[in-house]
Amino acid sequence: MRSGTRQNAHLTYRANTGAGRHGWLRLTPAYSVSLVRRYAAEMPPGSVVTDPFSGTGTTPLAAAEHGLTGQSLDVNPFLIWLGKMKTAAYEPEHLRETRRALAPLVHRAEELLPGAGELWEPELHNIGRWWARSALDALKAVRRALDVAAGGLPPGGRDLLDVAFCRTLIASSNAAFNHQSMSFKEDGEKDGAEGAGGGTVQALDLDAAREVLETFRREAGTTLANAADPLPGTARVLHGDSRDMQPAAGRLTPCDLLLTSPPYVNRMSYIRELRPYMYWMRHLRRAEDAGRLDWQAIGGTWGAATSRVRAWRPPGPEADGVPEPVAGELARTQAAIRRDGGRNGPLLANYVGKYVHDMWGHFRAAYRNVRGGGRVVYVIGNSTFYGNQVPAQEWYAALLREAGFAGIEVEVIRKRNSNKALFEYAVSGGRP
Ligand SMILES: C[S@@+](CC[C@H](N)C(=O)[O-])C[C@H]1O[C@@H](n2cnc3c(N)ncnc32)[C@H](O)[C@@H]1O
Repeated sequence: MRSGTRQNAHLTYRANTGAGRHGWLRLTPAYSVSLVRRYAAEMPPGSVVTDPFSGTGTTPLAAAEHGLTGQSLDVNPFLIWLGKMKTAAYEPEHLRETRRALAPLVHRAEELLPGAGELWEPELHNIGRWWARSALDALKAVRRALDVAAGGLPPGGRDLLDVAFCRTLIASSNAAFNHQSMSFKEDGEKDGAEGAGGGTVQALDLDAAREVLETFRREAGTTLANAADPLPGTARVLHGDSRDMQPAAGRLTPCDLLLTSPPYVNRMSYIRELRPYMYWMRHLRRAEDAGRLDWQAIGGTWGAATSRVRAWRPPGPEADGVPEPVAGELARTQAAIRRDGGRNGPLLANYVGKYVHDMWGHFRAAYRNVRGGGRVVYVIGNSTFYGNQVPAQEWYAALLREAGFAGIEVEVIRKRNSNKALFEYAVSGGRP
């Protein structure tokens, strides 16, 4: 089976970019709409679908598109905002009013362009690496025009224009998404080095800046058009930790289907991926904020979260630790990572240990949040550290069984990249 498993790009975020609201912002680890729609389509009307790791809100949106009730949790404030916007119902009159407000807003931004250098900009490290001077000034002008116009916009209008702004800032940046995580385009790297490090001050190119304003106008048009598509079902996206599944506000309804893709055991940092959006949207104000937020994420090791992972110790035997058979395999894997990982060995062994510990907490909370007869589906990849396999799919299967789920199956969905050993799996089961 494995040798025949292809990379199946239609089962990744790449399939989401043209799919209406699903395409609003791309997050590399987002899973595919077609995969989620397949599961959602099997659910009878009235079903409740929960995603405890909401990300860009793919699951709750797909549930609402199928007339179901979606609910999801995340710890990242930017993703919670985005998920809420993607799943909201918008009044046609409010969308029309927002569209009418767009031309004066872009005009105002254009007037601000000559002095835009003086306007607020985010404290994103090495900002000249992200945007050439003209693009940066144009973004600053749009940001200011949006802030000033906000109070006069109808409900939802400000947020939809902010989505368009986010799309514009990434479209006009030097960031490329053709790798596993965000990186810089070759020539962008050169531009940025001059703009930021070398002290060469680029002149404002008004035509280039106006092009960015034009991108914003176009993105706003698309976003407002997508928002007009009605959603037959409903969805709630809440701030909450999947380790206890008790949102700060409100409660989750026990679900018929829990469908999710949790963080993989691969040190991907969502904060790192999302930082351009998060700085411009003021969810991050300075570098320390990023480490603090990433510590709340399972698998987070960005900034200051790294030293906290290094210092992390598993709870003592009196606490509810990871059960066998996973505990033994985990200990052996951690020992191998410590042995083979050189200076990083102890940190990465701890990282894997804490990840499994956190997911064990989640699986127990998941059991309490699925109705009798309900199903769970986890989309997860395996990983390797210094040649040592971390078979997350097998550990998930064993821990789900320990948490009380039955009929556990592990299915290969696709091969992840050119590395022969890396696959993506659907681990599923049911609550008796
Ligand atoms: C792989 S992504 C989910 C992608 C999602 N399926 C999509 O299509 O966009 C994992 C998500 O889990 C979130 N997360 C990490 N730790 C969490 C926790 N303790 N509680 C809730 N969400 C968490 C991250 O912020 C991230 O958005």
